[in-house]
Amino acid sequence: MPLHVLKHPLASHVMTHLRDESTKPATFRTLSYQLGLLLAIESTRDLATTDKTVQTPLEEHTGQVLARPLVIVPILRAGLGMTQPFLDLFPDVSVGYVGLERDHETAVARSYYCKLPPLAGARVIVVDPMLATGGSAVQTLTVVKENGAKDVSFACIVSSPEGVETVQKDHPEVPIYTAAFDRELNGAKYIMPGLGDFGDRLYGT
Ligand code: PRP
Ligand code: URA
Repeated sequence: MPLHVLKHPLASHVMTHLRDESTKPATFRTLSYQLGLLLAIESTRDLATTDKTVQTPLEEHTGQVLARPLVIVPILRAGLGMTQPFLDLFPDVSVGYVGLERDHETAVARSYYCKLPPLAGARVIVVDPMLATGGSAVQTLTVVKENGAKDVSFACIVSSPEGVETVQKDHPEVPIYTAAFDRELNGAKYIMPGLGDFGDRLYGT
């Protein structure tokens, strides 16, 4: 599946401030919300709709409404920074949670929590701001598929070439939406130029 990179001057503007190491957590959360909104719109452009007839004050009109449920699965904890925009845009959305934490030495993610709503028949969007090695994304995409998801997308704020390649190899049918496609991983498996540890910057830890 192709990689969709946000192309919007506002996305570039917000991303630059998000990367800035002097940006404090409160502003960082606002900027994450803004990029989450742009990604929420971009990643749902192809949602199926069905006809619905309503009575306007002047006449009957047949328009479209969303045809299928939407489920967002944030990867804890940093994925929480991208969840609210989806909740604000899609009031009927359900939320599942997958808790993963990368080991500081090996960068391999360990699972510590999983709670998912019914996924069959829904568009499932896994959200996690950082796609670095791709290990967390691949684990989560595997879990949601094992739980019945058939129509799955992945949305992140920053991605690396290594992470995108890994997801595309293990889950080739999953479209990836990203606000920035960065240069590489460094020796510690952080994205370069990146923005550092997203969870730490989001929550001031
Ligand atoms: C970060 C980030 C992703 C993961 C990406 O989470 O939010 O979940 O790393 O790295 P990967 O592609 O190499 O798996 P982290 O494990 O630091 O946990 P946190 O969200 O609790 O900070
Ligand atoms: N997780 C982060 O928060 N940042 C990175 O650069 C890589 C993984």
